[in-house]
Amino acid sequence: MERIGQTAGLSAAEVHARFDVLVTTAASGIVVADAAGRVQLFNPMCERQFGYIAAEVAGKSISALLHNPPPLGEILRPDAGGTVRPREMVGRRKDGSAFPILLSMGEGALDGKSLYVGFIQDITAQKEAENAIREREERLRSVLETGPDAIIVIDEMGNIESLNAAAVWLFGYLESEVLGRNVKMLMPPPYRDRHDGYLAHYRATGEKRAIGIGRVVMGLRRDGTTFPIELNIGETRIGERRLFTGFIRDISEREGAARRLQDLQAELIHVARLTAMGQMSSALAHELNQPLTAAANYVKAARRTLDQGLEATRPKVQELLDKAAGQTIRAGQIIRRLRDFVEKREGNRAPEDVNKVIEEAVALAFVGAADSGVTVTPKFDAKLPRVMIDKIQIQQIVLNLVRNALEAMAGRERRELRLSTALDGGDFVRVAVSDTGPGLSEDVAAKLFQPFVTTKSDGMGIGLSICRSIVEAHGGKMAAAANPGGGVTFSFQLPVAHDGYEEEAVR
Ligand SMILES: Nc1ncnc2c1ncn2[C@@H]1O[C@H](COP(=O)(O)OP(=O)(O)OP(=O)(O)O)[C@@H](O)[C@H]1O
Ligand SMILES: [Mg+2]
Repeated sequence: MERIGQTAGLSAAEVHARFDVLVTTAASGIVVADAAGRVQLFNPMCERQFGYIAAEVAGKSISALLHNPPPLGEILRPDAGGTVRPREMVGRRKDGSAFPILLSMGEGALDGKSLYVGFIQDITAQKEAENAIREREERLRSVLETGPDAIIVIDEMGNIESLNAAAVWLFGYLESEVLGRNVKMLMPPPYRDRHDGYLAHYRATGEKRAIGIGRVVMGLRRDGTTFPIELNIGETRIGERRLFTGFIRDISEREGAARRLQDLQAELIHVARLTAMGQMSSALAHELNQPLTAAANYVKAARRTLDQGLEATRPKVQELLDKAAGQTIRAGQIIRRLRDFVEKREGNRAPEDVNKVIEEAVALAFVGAADSGVTVTPKFDAKLPRVMIDKIQIQQIVLNLVRNALEAMAGRERRELRLSTALDGGDFVRVAVSDTGPGLSEDVAAKLFQPFVTTKSDGMGIGLSICRSIVEAHGGKMAAAANPGGGVTFSFQLPVAHDGYEEEAVR
């Protein structure tokens, strides 16, 4: 203190006054103890921190200010020498509550006796902030560790800095086998060969190509198998360093499920076709029987004609045999059409003439119903563009709609079937099938396109649900509406085959 006085040229009393100000206004708790640990000074900040007033602790042991106090020698050990740093301890307030403090201890001498000066900082807020950060970090880590997505962090050169459990599991490596190695090892060619280039390009230009954009690429497992992944990349800067975080989702399962669903759908469509053919089998047999019987009759007639002498009857025999051949060919055509219709095939779409496709299907639908007394009125737009369709599937729709209409009109007085095709906006052609039947009951209308809804004793009730799924697979919509004069109109959209549509569909 004398030294302070000397430098500032102050009297002892003036120095003392300033020392008093310092101690009372200090933002740190200041406690002074003697060699036995007895408190000799306890400043106002300490009073606030511990809830005692100075008089209550004067002469008491400094240990009483600590929660589970260590031995006195430990408390008083000075850290001024630099070997001991300010220590974290737990303070104890008058009311018994504990709080974290930082204690830095200094040792001095007064009148030949040791004196200990402790500076005390309440670090409750600091601790809370630290805990909050640690908690947040841990929560984040647990999310990353337990989330379904694989996460891989790489540096600017592509070297793997860290990865989570899902990533380890997904690629089949041990963490130690990939840490520090280039992430290329998890990619099959051609991605592998391009990756360094991508990174270099980004380093050089800062131009983002993959960052922030999710895309589907291939991953490579340790066992050499590849699988589709959805990759999202984020960028982080830590100081001067740039890190990239890849979020990776295995979509092989998802793709597989979509494909299985498609297979199932195709299977169902096929089964429905078979069923429809099954229901029509006797009519079809009849249809086939006609040309075959006719052919047989022509051949028999030719044989009889021959008995009258070859030369005289030659033109007649030739004519009969031509007719027989014509009927056989007709039978063959029927069989081919049937075989196309029941054959199990990959869905393949091609540009088709919609009117022709519908005419053929209607002919098939009328097999065995030619004498039903139904008048058919086609209203086809002759100038329609081609439509991009799976012909057999669309014919399956028309077949079901027309047969539904015929069945609905059976036994009714007015039996009129109207068919129409027309352009519907720029991208679709609308096909409509309209009847003069009893219309839809409210009950059936409410769940018309649901499977297994039928009012027929021999119906499966899958016709319309399959029609709609075929139309939707073609990107169109299907609807039913009551006709003003009675009966129902079913209509559906087919996509126009635009130029380049085929290439687009392939991609
Ligand atoms: N044009 C129509 N007029 C009146 N009701 C109809 C018409 N079309 C369909 N329905 C009703 O909708 C029901 C479902 O038709 P859907 O074609 O799905 O099955 P289905 O014809 O009963 O059997 P299938 O599976 O053999 O086609 C029919 O049972 C019928 O009650
Ligand atoms: Mg039906």
